[in-house]
Amino acid sequence: MRVPISACLVLLALITFTAKAQTAPAPASRVHKQAQRAVPAYKKAQAVALTPPMGWNSWNFFARKVTDQDIRNAADQMVATGMKDAGYVYINIDDTWEGDRDANGVLHSNSKFPDMKALADYVHSKGLKLGIYSSPGPKTCAGYEASLDHEVQDAQLYASWGIDYLKYDLCSFIPAVMQKQAPDDKAQQMRLMIAAYKKMDEALRASGRPMVYSLCQYGWDAVWEWGPEVGANLWRTTGDIKANWNSIYTILNEQAGLAKYAGPGHWNDPDMLEVGNGKLTPAENRTHFSMWAMLAAPLLAGNDLPNMTPEVKAILTNRDVIAIDQDRLGHEATRAYSEGEVDVWTRHLAGGALAIAVVNAGSDRYSTHPFHLSLARLGLHGTQHAKDLWSGKEMDLTDEMPLDIGTHDILLVRIAAPK
Ligand code: GLA
Repeated sequence: MRVPISACLVLLALITFTAKAQTAPAPASRVHKQAQRAVPAYKKAQAVALTPPMGWNSWNFFARKVTDQDIRNAADQMVATGMKDAGYVYINIDDTWEGDRDANGVLHSNSKFPDMKALADYVHSKGLKLGIYSSPGPKTCAGYEASLDHEVQDAQLYASWGIDYLKYDLCSFIPAVMQKQAPDDKAQQMRLMIAAYKKMDEALRASGRPMVYSLCQYGWDAVWEWGPEVGANLWRTTGDIKANWNSIYTILNEQAGLAKYAGPGHWNDPDMLEVGNGKLTPAENRTHFSMWAMLAAPLLAGNDLPNMTPEVKAILTNRDVIAIDQDRLGHEATRAYSEGEVDVWTRHLAGGALAIAVVNAGSDRYSTHPFHLSLARLGLHGTQHAKDLWSGKEMDLTDEMPLDIGTHDILLVRIAAPK
């Protein structure tokens, strides 16, 4: 078909005009307003957690018994075991460090923690960072003194000690404030809770010391929707984890659907790791660690570091798996499909790579075996060259290939160039 030259000229003029209209500079005032809108205050705080925080927390193993010495030992072991080199940074003291407030309202640590500043200096001297714990209510979950009406004072105290991370646990705020002030009004209770979290965020920022801000309110009221706006770098999405397969697998399933809420600076937190605790089998430890990495979860080990077995250490320091967790894009895995007792999750990684996790949740190995992995259902075409991140071996995945995965075990692979 021939197009008259005049029509071409009209078309060219139109394209030029439209392009100009699109690139013409906006008035300075509008640009300024847009820039302000583009970087809300809470986003600035996200720089402390551009990838999910990694470290260790005292609660899952020591619970109420934790002491200053346990924290120092954990810091020593973090270095000695190679965990620090593998990327772990935070040593977090959970509940039960708190003492009483003095006449000026200043909180003191209790006799288990004689000198918090000295402890922070010790942890920092190892090239690590120190985390602490409180509650927006009058008491912590374990019944110790908490931050209600002392938020600014406490944030300043943490900053003066050199604290780098705060876990802020709802607990007594529920009966003492939410239920008391708004007994029959759930919506108002939620507003009170959000305001309390915002209040501590403002206090932390006013302290002038960058601190990771971790919300612990068990995933209530869709915290993933408002967490970033109260300055949270991570928020618990579940109740407390336990060192058994049922707890881990239940929590894993609860994460389906939350991927879109996580990203650099603000993460879903399916709770701290139980790897190496209780009676978890090697397969369960592997699957737990792999799936928390797939979920871009904070990797906070919770085991007894000085008495860690070589097997547990090898799991916690598997750099290929840690690299999945720490992938800079921060795209959390989604569950692609489930068949029988087998779940298939995928995670998109930087550079176009893809991680695939195949979890056998069956308690009888042979009830689901062999499992045939459908690459087509994952949008892949033909044979895929992959690395098995637990054996360390290169392998070819073919469509519908049979996979023999033990009870509660996992196949975790990374495909560098998926087709
Ligand atoms: C709650 C939290 C736990 C732990 C304890 C401490 O149960 O969810 O992670 O911090 O409080 O008392």
